[in-house]
Amino acid sequence: MCGIVGYIGQNDTKEVLLNGLEKLEYRGYDSAGIAMLNDNGLNLFKVKGRIAALRGYVNNTIYATMGIGHTRWATHGVPSEENAHPHQSASGRFTLVHNGVIENYQDLKKEHLSDTAFVSETDTEVIVHLIDKLYGKYENTAEAFRQVISLLKGSYAIAMIDSEDQDNLYVAKNKSPLLVGLGEGFNVVASDAMATLKVTDQYLEIYDQEIVIVNRSFVEVQRLDGTVVDRKPYTAKIDASDIEKGTYPHFMLKEIDEQPFVTRKIIKEYQNENNELKLDNDIREAMKAADRIYIIACGTSYHAGLVGKEFIEKLANIAAEVHVASEFSYNMPLLSEKPLFVFISQSGETADSRSVLVKIKEMGYPALTITNVPGSTLSREADYTLNLYAGPEIAVASTKAYTAQIAVLVILAVDTAQAKGLKLDFDPMQELAIVANAMEILTDQKEAMEELVTNYLQAARNAFFIGRSADYHVCMEGALKLKEISYIQAEGFAGGELKHGTIALIEEGTPVIALATQADVNYAIRGNVQEVIARGANAMIISMKGMEQDTDAFVLPHVHELLTPLVSVVPLQLLAYYAALHRGCDIDKPRNLAKSVTVE
Ligand code: F6R
Repeated sequence: MCGIVGYIGQNDTKEVLLNGLEKLEYRGYDSAGIAMLNDNGLNLFKVKGRIAALRGYVNNTIYATMGIGHTRWATHGVPSEENAHPHQSASGRFTLVHNGVIENYQDLKKEHLSDTAFVSETDTEVIVHLIDKLYGKYENTAEAFRQVISLLKGSYAIAMIDSEDQDNLYVAKNKSPLLVGLGEGFNVVASDAMATLKVTDQYLEIYDQEIVIVNRSFVEVQRLDGTVVDRKPYTAKIDASDIEKGTYPHFMLKEIDEQPFVTRKIIKEYQNENNELKLDNDIREAMKAADRIYIIACGTSYHAGLVGKEFIEKLANIAAEVHVASEFSYNMPLLSEKPLFVFISQSGETADSRSVLVKIKEMGYPALTITNVPGSTLSREADYTLNLYAGPEIAVASTKAYTAQIAVLVILAVDTAQAKGLKLDFDPMQELAIVANAMEILTDQKEAMEELVTNYLQAARNAFFIGRSADYHVCMEGALKLKEISYIQAEGFAGGELKHGTIALIEEGTPVIALATQADVNYAIRGNVQEVIARGANAMIISMKGMEQDTDAFVLPHVHELLTPLVSVVPLQLLAYYAALHRGCDIDKPRNLAKSVTVE
C-alpha cells in the first residue's frame, strides 16, 4: 500500500507534497516523510505517525522547487522514523520513496550489498543503495536507475531524487499504481490523481515496467529497454468537492449518506432515454457465452459478490461461484469449460485480485472488472469494465462502494436475463428506485441507530450478526464493518449454524443482531434468536416491513426481497459508525488498515 507523491516545478514544493500526502493518507498512515532539494542540498523530514505530525515537524522556512513524499503502511519493519520513507543511499546522493514489495530484496542484498550498512528494516533501502553502487559503474543516473529497476522483482512505484541534479525526478512503476500529472512549468507524480487535483487535472498513465524522467518542462516515458513511449494525457474527471468532508465529521458518515444518490446515479448511467439497459454489447455476449461465472474479490467486495451470485443464478440462470482472491490464487478449483471471471474491486488495485487476473489471463479466460476506478489496473487488464459511479470513497471502511457493487451486479444479471430472453416478474429499475428511497429513509434515522448502539453495543467486547439466505451475506458485511472501525470482535453467521458450535460463546449480555428480511426463513431466524436469548444474549431483530413483529428493534422500509441487502446493510453501517464513535475510535482511518491493499 503506501502513497507516494513527487513534484518538480516553480511553486512551493512543501505545500504540494503535504497536501498530496494528506489526500493519500487513505493508502497508509503509520509513518510519513518528505525530501526536498534546493541549492543548499537535500532536506529530509520523517516522522512516525500521520501527515499532521509531519506538517508540524517540517521546517516552514525551507523553499524548494522539487521533492518527493511518502505515507506508509508498514510491510517490512515496524512503523518508525528509521523505516519511514524517503530512504537515502549510503553516499547520501540518492533519495527515494517506494510503494510496493520487492520480493527479491534479500537476494539483491546478499549478492550486491553485503558490505553496505543498512539503517532500516525495509525492502526499499536495497533499491537506493543499489543505485549508489551502480552509479559508481555507469556514472549516469538514468542508466543506474534503469539497471536497478531491471533487477527488481515484485511491485513498485518509485520516485527518486539525485541531489546533484535539480532538473529531473526519476520514476518507475510495476504493479503498484502511479500517475504523472502535467502542468505549466511543473509536473507531479502521485499514486492517485486525487493527491494532485489541486494543481492539475491532466494525467499520463504509466504502465508496468516503465521508467519516467520527469522534468519541469517535459516528461519522458521509456520502456525498460530504453525505447521511448508516446502516450497522450487524459483529463481526470474527479470533482474536487467529492474528496472533501464538507460539514460531515467523518467521510464514512458522508459516504453512508451518499448511497441513495449513488443508487440513483447508477440507475441513470445504465439506462438510455427509453429506459432500456445500456450495457456494452461485448459484456452481454461474454455473459451469454459463459457456462459459469467466477466472482473474485476481497473483503467487503467479496461480500458484495456473495449477493451478486444470487442475482446471476436467480435472474440470469447461470451458475456462479464466489471466491476470496487470495485463496483462489494459490488453490484454484476445477474450472468449467467456458468460465467468465468477474472481478469486484472498489479501488481496482487490490493485489490479491490482480494476482488472480494475471493467472486467468495467462490461461486465456475472459475477465470483467466491476470497479469504482475505471482507469485502475484491474480495469485496464480485464477485457471489460463496469463502472460503479460511486465517486471517490475515502473512508477506509467501504460503504457506498458495497451498495454500488450490488446495484451494478443486479443490472448485469438483469441485462443478461433480458439478452437470454428470460422473463422477469418485476421491474428491476423501478425496484432499484424504491431501494434508493428506502436508503434515504434509513439515513434520516441516525438517532434511532445511535440509540440501538447504546442499548446493545455500548460495553460490548464481542457481537454476533445472524441471518439466513441473503441476510446471512449482509451479516458478514455488518460484522466486518463493526470490527474494522470499532475493534469489537464480531462475526457474521448463518442463523442455523450457530448451534453447531459458536453458540458456546453466547453468555449473559452477548449482543446478537439478527436480520429478518427474507419471508421463507422469517420464522427460522426468529427461532435462532430465541435460542440465543435462552442462553442470555442481548438480542435484537432488524426486520422488514411486512414481516415485522412488535418486539423487533427496528423495521426497514419494504423493498423487493432480492434487493434487501442494499437496504439492510445501511443500519449495520450506521451501528458500526456509532459504536466506533462512542468508543472514540479513529473512524476514517482504523488501526492497521489501509484503503487500497496493493500487497499480497
Ligand atoms: C472493508 C474494505 C475492504 C475492501 C477490500 C477489497 O471495509 O473496504 O475489505 O473491500 O480490501 O478492496 P477493493 O474493493 O478495493 O478490491
